[in-house]
Amino acid sequence: MRQNIYDDEKFSKKYDELREGQKGLNANDLIEIPAFRRMMPDVKDKKILDLGCGYGESDKYYKKLGAKSVLGVDISEHMIEIANKNNKTNGVEYEVKAMEDISQIDDKFDIIISSLAFHYLKDYPQLVKDIYNLLNDNGYLVFSQEHPFTTCTKYTENVKKSHTVIDNKYFGLFSDYNRPGIRTIHWFDAEVIKYHRTFTEIINTLVQNGFTIEEIEEPVASEEAVNKNPKYINQLDRPLFLIIKAKKITKE
Ligand SMILES: C[S@@+](CC[C@H](N)C(=O)[O-])C[C@H]1O[C@@H](n2cnc3c(N)ncnc32)[C@H](O)[C@@H]1O
Repeated sequence: MRQNIYDDEKFSKKYDELREGQKGLNANDLIEIPAFRRMMPDVKDKKILDLGCGYGESDKYYKKLGAKSVLGVDISEHMIEIANKNNKTNGVEYEVKAMEDISQIDDKFDIIISSLAFHYLKDYPQLVKDIYNLLNDNGYLVFSQEHPFTTCTKYTENVKKSHTVIDNKYFGLFSDYNRPGIRTIHWFDAEVIKYHRTFTEIINTLVQNGFTIEEIEEPVASEEAVNKNPKYINQLDRPLFLIIKAKKITKE
């Protein structure tokens, strides 16, 4: 099933408040984005495709760093509207398009990126095949997703119930890890559909479809980040994100 929850008015209002209202203090800005950007290959003169680009801030950032062009696609009209308003610049384009439909794109890219979007997609093997076909030889795929230790449990009627705090230490609710599949999470007053996959499935699907893994990171908050938002000390106990850098192996 394909869900477009970011076009749900109530949901997107709360999400916008998290990303814009708490700018610089949320886990994206403090943990995921810095780690992701550290892992990126050189973008100079590269053509980049961003899957589930959201507001597309990173697309403008990579263009500024010297990328030749960046195309950001997202299933949500709301997200693309904001991207066009805030981050469109010469050489950066945005398009409403689902990750399920990227085989329709008639172009090739040097780097394909995606931040925190793959866990919304049901058919991960098909996505990896489509990405392989869209990449130039020796191209890179860099993506982040919610950590499998976070996506696994089926008992999260409310995100906050997925962990408990004892003596300032986070204990995650870890269950159902070896039961991959759909998870319906109550988040921002909406029923959000996500998909849990084990490390085995995430990694082996890449390897079996022509990628080599160059780097994996489960980022923790830096001291500076913890100073800005002390609750992210919990990253030492309970990883939120997984980031993978994979390279397309060129067939002889
Ligand atoms: C958590 S947000 C991340 C946005 C952006 N990548 C970032 O890191 O700021 C997830 C994004 O994935 C998009 N998304 C979810 N399912 C999608 C799909 N099937 N195809 C394309 N985009 C999708 C959502 O609309 C949303 O913009």
